[in-house]
Amino acid sequence: MHPWLQDATAYITGGSSGIGLAIAHELRRHGASLVLIARNRQRLDEAQRELLTTTAPVSRRAPDSRQPMVDIVVADVTDSRQLQQTLREAVARISPPDILVNCAGMAHPGYFEQLDLHVLHQTMQVNLYGAWSATQTLLPYLRQRGGRIVNVASLAGLIGSFGYSAYAASKFALVGFSEALRNELKPDGVSVSLLCPSDTDTPQLHQENRIKPHETAALSGNGPTLQAGQVARDFLRGLRRRRFLIIAGRSARMVYLIKRLAPSILYRLMDGVVAKSRRRAQTHTALIGEQ
Ligand SMILES: NC(=O)c1ccc[n+]([C@@H]2O[C@H](COP(=O)([O-])OP(=O)(O)OC[C@H]3O[C@@H](n4cnc5c(N)ncnc54)[C@H](OP(=O)(O)O)[C@@H]3O)[C@@H](O)[C@H]2O)c1
Repeated sequence: MHPWLQDATAYITGGSSGIGLAIAHELRRHGASLVLIARNRQRLDEAQRELLTTTAPVSRRAPDSRQPMVDIVVADVTDSRQLQQTLREAVARISPPDILVNCAGMAHPGYFEQLDLHVLHQTMQVNLYGAWSATQTLLPYLRQRGGRIVNVASLAGLIGSFGYSAYAASKFALVGFSEALRNELKPDGVSVSLLCPSDTDTPQLHQENRIKPHETAALSGNGPTLQAGQVARDFLRGLRRRRFLIIAGRSARMVYLIKRLAPSILYRLMDGVVAKSRRRAQTHTALIGEQ
């Protein structure tokens, strides 16, 4: 039970699915009102219905006081002008934010030489520029309320992994943006956090699994796949303490520790997994050739 969430309103971009939706459930459970932002209205409607019917807020409110709401806003975070207008309307219509979670994101894994520049543009637009635009629009309100901003990056924003050149570039950029913002807003009482989950069972991961190189799949297969609910619980623990870096999942925290203390060991481990995956793929190709 987190009483400080009882009268809070959280704006969550990407709140209609996966990690964003799990965060919405966690915040609602603790009494926060929600504004979910995404492009697809049908998925937003479904998420709103799911939240209202399955997650009951644990409330210490008086029975006649305002109950936590779930509102939805259709917007594309890559369209900064439309986003700005829609968010300002939402603030006037619903409530100003106490918490902003920038969770809308995309990933398109692949071999660098096969990735068109367009993929990088698109990935940066959603993962970096989207977070920038939403933050810039809502910051004046967050500033007034001693608010909190959480940018959802990834373990791939701390460790550049095979097959994730565009995604890692966007998430490393988001990490740099978040750190600069943290230092700039701290004196004004606005906290900035960076949530870095490793592979999490969501529609995005399923989509990635369909196209990722076998080396990337082998590296992913070396760690556990998190459940979105677990990421959301780690998120809330970090948010409550206004912690800057929130790495979701124990094994992800271990991998990041190795990266910081002994990066060469991590690189050797990753190189080993890639080499093994290539040997296996070559053997497989040779066997098929013999048939
Ligand atoms: N799943 C993982 O393994 C994993 C690991 C580490 C970090 N992450 C990060 O966690 C975040 C959420 O990912 P997820 O796996 O939960 O993905 P997901 O289930 O596919 O959800 C993505 C959400 O973002 C919204 N979205 C995407 N593009 C948007 C845009 N241009 N404008 C507004 N909303 C947009 C989607 O709704 P619409 O399509 O309707 O717009 C959806 O609500 C992302 O930033 C991702 O990079 C994921």
